[in-house]
Amino acid sequence: MSDINKFPKDFLWGTATSSYQIEGAHDVDGKGPSVWDVFSQVKGNIKNEDSGNIACNHYHLWKEDIVLMKKLGVKAYRFSISWPRIFPSGWEVKANHMGLDFYDRLVDELLLNDIIPFITLNHWDIPQGLEDSGGWNERWMVNEFIKYGYHVSAKLGDRVKKWITHNEPWCISYLGYISGQFPPGIKNDWTKSLCTAHHLLLSHGKVIPEIKGNSKNCHVGITLNLNTVTPASKSHYDQKASKFYDDGFNRLFLDPLYRSQYPESFIETLIEKGHIMSNSLDFIKHDDLKVISTKTDFLGVNYYSRAVIRNEEVDENENQPKSVTIGPTTDFGWEVYPLGIYDLLIRLKNDYNIKRIYITENGCSYGDMPNKHNEVVDSRRIEYHDTHLHEIQRAIQDKVNCEGYFAWSFMDNFEWAEGYSQRFGLVWVDFETQERIPKESYYWYKRYIEKNTGEDQSNAT
Ligand code: GCO
Repeated sequence: MSDINKFPKDFLWGTATSSYQIEGAHDVDGKGPSVWDVFSQVKGNIKNEDSGNIACNHYHLWKEDIVLMKKLGVKAYRFSISWPRIFPSGWEVKANHMGLDFYDRLVDELLLNDIIPFITLNHWDIPQGLEDSGGWNERWMVNEFIKYGYHVSAKLGDRVKKWITHNEPWCISYLGYISGQFPPGIKNDWTKSLCTAHHLLLSHGKVIPEIKGNSKNCHVGITLNLNTVTPASKSHYDQKASKFYDDGFNRLFLDPLYRSQYPESFIETLIEKGHIMSNSLDFIKHDDLKVISTKTDFLGVNYYSRAVIRNEEVDENENQPKSVTIGPTTDFGWEVYPLGIYDLLIRLKNDYNIKRIYITENGCSYGDMPNKHNEVVDSRRIEYHDTHLHEIQRAIQDKVNCEGYFAWSFMDNFEWAEGYSQRFGLVWVDFETQERIPKESYYWYKRYIEKNTGEDQSNAT
């Protein structure tokens, strides 16, 4: 267990959610369908045919949820805006005020409770109306995102000072266009996948001045999901496969943002493998990379696990035996590997010289249920957060400027293609009755925050 009282005093302790995963109220107050509303209706796309139609019904229970956040003692709350609540089909010129008003009330209530709102503009649930015309594959999508970002920041920018443009562009571009697990469910289309990544990054760069214009002295950043990569053996094959994975997962986003270029080795390998043609990247226009690398105020990092990479293109007999020992896994099957967050943070400092980082997500899925006393004893979650926080502490001691931590997630919610089968919350949710039960990890996190902010009363003698 980690030492306490080592985090900087003003470290931002938070928790996070996203709109489609918690709000429900999928057709209320003028909201249009998002790509996730439509995708989740297709049989076979989501485990148990679940959908976010009701989710945690946070759209109606938001006040109670903020009470629970206040009791938890968090200083910040990261949530996302549902784009189709603001522009129901995406194409409207005027914003839907009922949608904006919901977030307006939410922000006011958070501030009243001394909780800093951290807004993510795009946590994947874009209006289906835009997807129908090509979505992120189309360059006009950049302008639609600017319009959306402009209206949201015009409404909330006087009070909201922390903005995240996109959440995890890799998930949108890879899971949407290569593995097909996420909308629009397309498989193995590398050109579309790269084009999507490019337009996401471009829209990030372009929306920054719009937000800054509406929100004085605000901070704007982007959130990436990043991994530490370990080759499964020392063989040349596994080293090569690891490099390819790292290029496509981490560097495809970090390099354009912080070095104003795409990783050449990645593009070359894609051409070599026949996934793209040499003219496939014609969607990259003059000056795009300059816009993408517009200076940001922080990088949001989502870290869950490391990637252990085996070369699957060679026969197992030709490769060396695997030499990496995999640690315990969560109920999602993801390895618990706290050292990875330390290695990642050090890499971000050394290779990219990133000046300010927030861990915008870190957490684990465990299915612990309430016992007969209505307690949820989720010791493995406590261990997970504790060990990861310990590694973050070490990284801070080694001069990484990490200024905050958002536990994923505040409450159990709709876990995308896994539906409600994976529980990441500090608060347990009964999806039938909408009862919330704070888990042991909630109380643990509360004490952890108190001890690290000097608000701990229990030790005062
Ligand atoms: C993501 C998202 C979250 C997920 C979480 C667990 O990283 O996929 O930002 O919405 O729920 O990561 O998978």
